[in-house]
Order: sequence, then C-alpha cells, then structure tokens
Amino acid sequence: MPDTGTQFTDRSVVITGGASGMGAATAREFTARGATVVIVDVNTDGANRVADECASIGIRPTVLSGDISDSAFCTQAADAVVEQHDSIDVLVNAAGTIHRADSLGTNDDDWRRVMGVNIDGMFYLCRAALRHMTAAGSGAIVNFGSIWGGVGSAGSTAYCVSKGAVHQLTRALALDHVEQGIRVNAVAPGEVNTPMLSSQRQHAPTPADLQELADATIPMKRLADPTEIAKVVVFLASDDASYMTGEIVHVDAGYTAR
Ligand SMILES: NC(=O)c1ccc[n+]([C@@H]2O[C@H](COP(=O)([O-])OP(=O)(O)OC[C@H]3O[C@@H](n4cnc5c(N)ncnc54)[C@H](O)[C@@H]3O)[C@@H](O)[C@H]2O)c1
Repeated sequence: MPDTGTQFTDRSVVITGGASGMGAATAREFTARGATVVIVDVNTDGANRVADECASIGIRPTVLSGDISDSAFCTQAADAVVEQHDSIDVLVNAAGTIHRADSLGTNDDDWRRVMGVNIDGMFYLCRAALRHMTAAGSGAIVNFGSIWGGVGSAGSTAYCVSKGAVHQLTRALALDHVEQGIRVNAVAPGEVNTPMLSSQRQHAPTPADLQELADATIPMKRLADPTEIAKVVVFLASDDASYMTGEIVHVDAGYTAR
C-alpha cells in the first residue's frame, strides 16, 4: 500500500508510461495522495488495469491512449487534460523503451524508435504541457533519465544517448522556465525490477540471473522495487522540493558513486 505523506488533492498529474513498471508505481503513489491522475500510454489494456487498481485507493485515473512519439497526439493529450481538469500541475515522463545492442546491431528503425519515444516524445509532451503551465505560472515536471544518461554502458548505444539527452532536456527546460514558476527535474534510476529490465534479452532472466546482475554491478546488491523510485518522483513533484530545479537525482543504490 503506497504511503500517504504529501497530499496532492485537487492537483492534476499526467503520467506517461503509467501502464507498467515505474510509471504504474508512480500512478499508485499519486493516487494514494489524492491526486487526479491521467495515464498516457500506448498500452491501453495495461493502463486500464492500473487505473482499476488505483480506484481502490483514490480517484480512478483517466486513460489517454496513444503514442507519445506523435507530436500531434501529445498536443491533443495536454489540451484534453486542461479541458477536463483545468490545469496540468505535474507532468511525469516515465514512458520509455530500450534497444539492447551496440551501434552495429542498431539499424535506422531501432535508432529512430528509441529516440522517438525516449527523447522526441518526452520533448513533445513537455512542450505541450509547458504551454499551459507557463500560462498558469506554476507546474512541476519530472523526467525519467537513467544512470546510463550520465555514465556509459556497453551494449545499449541508442538508449544511453537518449537518456543523456533527457538529462540535458531537463536542465535546459529548467533554466528556460525558472522565472515562470515551473520546476523541471529528473530521476536517474539504477537497475529497477520492471518488465523493461527483462525485455529484449536473448533469454528471459531468472531470479537467480537478476541476483547475479545485482551482485556484480550494484553496491547494495539488490534491484530497486519500482515504488522506491516512485517515492522520489513524488518528492520532486511536491512543494517539499521547492528549491530544486534542473537536478538529476540518482536513485541507484550507489551505482554512480564509484
Ligand atoms: N527498469 C530500469 O531498470 C530502468 C532504469 C533506468 C531508467 N529507466 C527508465 O524508466 C522509465 C520507466 O521504465 P520501466 O522500467 O518502468 O519500463 P516499462 O517497460 O515497465 O514501462 C514503460 C511504459 O512506457 C510505455 N510506452 C512505451 N512506448 C510508448 C509510447 N511510444 N507512447 C506511450 N507510452 C509508451 C509502455 O507501454 C510501458 O507502459 C523509462 O523511461 C526507462 O527508460 C528504467
């Protein structure tokens, strides 16, 4: 059960990628704190499943089904939220995808897919939300970066590049809109136990494989639970983080401390 610390009653929170993993955990955390959540995801069934779960702890999130790499969809989605809920108080960009290959194993379509979702889509939705946030003179955006946006990793070229771009998008938007009362931050998670962690591998990893990965790469020697990242997202979106903008907050059990 998500804890119910800082309250978001009467605030509208848009969460991309809310159908799965950390986006879903974030949707649950905000719902438990009284927020009016809107899940934006290409996976309609998954988004509705998460919305149904959330209904038992708060206001059932609405679902906007679509592909964030489509600029027109992002504009329509942001406009629809404001039409229905008057404002976008918080935008969380959690939607993402990965291609596990080096440059030689990355064809043009693989490259475009990763960039299209992880950076184009995030930019489109930030811009669409910012049109409303700047008019309102307030708002908070939390982007999902990655440890691999700051340090390199072998075997995921496009993903590393896209997450580095997320970190720079976060800093640039923070500076562009600081005088309009809008804060823009990012979380940079380490290895988190979500469907993405097991996806696009030759064999689905067993629990023993995942523990081996954790033992080899993570100082705390365990994967994160998605909720452990969602709680940091909620903090960054809340007034408790009122003096933070343009920050990339690593939530990685010491991975990048080395
Ligand atoms: N899992 C990890 O270890 C890890 C580590 C660091 C950063 N991240 C990042 O955290 C974020 C969440 O990852 P996760 O592990 O929860 O992933 P996940 O695969 O569990 O969830 C990703 C969600 O994004 C949605 N999505 C994908 N493409 C979309 C599109 N074009 N339009 C709309 N929705 C789309 C999917 O349907 C899914 O619901 C991602 O940005 C990811 O890159 C993940």
